[in-house]
Amino acid sequence: MQYIPLMSFRDNSIDSILAQLAALAARPLDQAHAMPPEVYTSEHFLERERERIFRGGWVCAGRTDSLRSAGEYFCFDVDSQPVFVVRQKDGSFSAFANVCRHRMMTLLKGQGKCKRIVCPYHAWTYDVNGALLNAPHMDSRSEFDQTALGLHPVRLEVWHGWIYLTLNNDAPTVDSLLEKLSPLVAPYQMEHYVQILEEDHVWDTNWKQLTENFMEGYHLPVAHKATVGGYFPVEATQFAAVPSPGFTFQFFEKTTEAPVGTAHPDNKTLRGKQRVTSVMPTVFPSHMYVLAPDHLWYLSLQPQGVSQVKIRYGIAMAPEVLETCEDPDKLIADTAAFLWQVNEEDRVVVEGIHKGAHAPLSTSGPLCWLERENHEFAQYLAAQLCN
Ligand code: FES
Ligand SMILES: [Fe+2]
Repeated sequence: MQYIPLMSFRDNSIDSILAQLAALAARPLDQAHAMPPEVYTSEHFLERERERIFRGGWVCAGRTDSLRSAGEYFCFDVDSQPVFVVRQKDGSFSAFANVCRHRMMTLLKGQGKCKRIVCPYHAWTYDVNGALLNAPHMDSRSEFDQTALGLHPVRLEVWHGWIYLTLNNDAPTVDSLLEKLSPLVAPYQMEHYVQILEEDHVWDTNWKQLTENFMEGYHLPVAHKATVGGYFPVEATQFAAVPSPGFTFQFFEKTTEAPVGTAHPDNKTLRGKQRVTSVMPTVFPSHMYVLAPDHLWYLSLQPQGVSQVKIRYGIAMAPEVLETCEDPDKLIADTAAFLWQVNEEDRVVVEGIHKGAHAPLSTSGPLCWLERENHEFAQYLAAQLCN
């Protein structure tokens, strides 16, 4: 019997992990492996990701359709920075640090609608445009410049109905980063899709294991055999001809028997094969969505440590689907329940592989051609982290 050595002698230093990642990223796809387990378990590696990726790049906070009227807001953390996004009277969107300028109390929670933002600690009050309107009992100070104490703005960009945020004022625009993705998603007109659900969840896995799971269709016929597995002919998967550094995507077709995922008869913009084709972009690092002719669902991830990830999860439907439906409430409930069942199937596997990554005998194995985007993700991470 072959003796399998315990892996406790592994070099878990950040330098060793980065060197392994760089070597992996340099391989062609047909020699690629999954990333080494330490990439998913090292606190030092996570700290580097936080600094360079989550504080240095763009993250998606949600969709504009979540904020339909002035004063509506939702909260989102950009790494350790609490932020809220709010709709202005002129219809534009703004983001601010969700932290009071007095003694740093966090201001808003969850989502809602407000005319003013009142700090729950000492009632400093802000306009939705961030200006400080009132600060009780501060007039006895010899100097108090209310105009200099507005909420700190956070950079925001809207792209095809998505709201992206960054703490990095020097980051290139989302528009420039996703220039080549734009023509692929534009025919679906997803900015008009009507949001029917948005929720936050926490799963026990590393954020990258969930990203990788999303990107590869290899698991669909197996892990999702009880739900969507039978409707995806995975051999028909088409990838990007030339990978782009900021994102990756694939196209896949649905069989005509699929209960959802094909164009509604009232959809007059998608033609031919497009009507049964979905595009599945992953915008690095952590925004991913399935954009089908009749609906979309998405995830935006935020690490909560190496072994937990916070997921903003949402579903939206093409307007013609809801407009022509006899019982939209039932359709919405059924769609949400079905997609949640698919999510649960994913949760089982991504929590399982995370447990595996912590195990001393674990080693990463070779990738299948259907996991091509996982290798592109490793190359993206190496470019961000290994220099
Ligand atoms: S911390 Fe906000 S008013 Fe004091
Ligand atoms: Fe899945």
